[in-house]
Amino acid sequence: MLMHHQTVRQILPTPPAIAQAPRLHVAIISDGNGRWASSRGLPRSAGHRAGAETARQVIAAAPRLGIHTLTLFALSSANWKRPAAEVNAILRLLHEYVLTETTHCIEEGVRLSIIGRRDRLPVTLRQAISDSEAATACGTRLHLRLAVDYSAREAIYHAACRFYKVTELSPESFSNVLAEVHRGGSVEVDLLIRTGGEQRISDFLLWECAFAEFVFLQKRWPDFNATDLEAAVQEFAKRERTRGALPDALAG
Ligand code: FPP
Repeated sequence: MLMHHQTVRQILPTPPAIAQAPRLHVAIISDGNGRWASSRGLPRSAGHRAGAETARQVIAAAPRLGIHTLTLFALSSANWKRPAAEVNAILRLLHEYVLTETTHCIEEGVRLSIIGRRDRLPVTLRQAISDSEAATACGTRLHLRLAVDYSAREAIYHAACRFYKVTELSPESFSNVLAEVHRGGSVEVDLLIRTGGEQRISDFLLWECAFAEFVFLQKRWPDFNATDLEAAVQEFAKRERTRGALPDALAG
């Protein structure tokens, strides 16, 4: 019998490293669309269109890499400072994405949520978002959260304003209030990826990134692909996450 088990073990392929780090929350700051377009003599909106295509590929690849929640920074609240034409182009892409991808999301078991302010979005986009969120609510394979008109500071501030009404004060109950503010929940980030060469967090998921691992890439977002995502997840799997404790080797 023992011999038989040994033989089976020898025949089975070694599981990939990713299998050891399942159910990840990966958050991505998808930076570099504008520079990607400018370097090709294209308008910045063309960079955002190419970026939306990258987002589609990355979303499709995420579940097989053990990612259960994927949060993409589609529009920061700070982005309102950009010319209206550029912001409108991003909002149109989002609207297009929500309208064209909802059926696909249902088929693929993807639950779509938007986190961020909604009151400054066009009414038709707001409606499309609510419809898509309701239609995809049963998806369990991947929770896709698009951060739109999102500012982590503002979300934390609004959660703090609500928190004084909560009777049981704890970091966990604060997280729950923040989840209500987000609507799309508040889940600790395991891995934060930023493309485009900058190394900063830009008011993204400040509370949720407390113990996140960061991977910064030079590649601009439209050049990013599923292989890069897999490489980032593999890099994450190599890191020892101590959360302030001693590494295993020293813990005795
Ligand atoms: C940052 O690049 C990117 C954005 C502000 C917008 C991101 C939008 C998308 C990826 C498309 C929408 C997503 C979906 C799923 C439809 P940047 O403009 O700051 O680039 P730069 O730093 O080179 O100027």
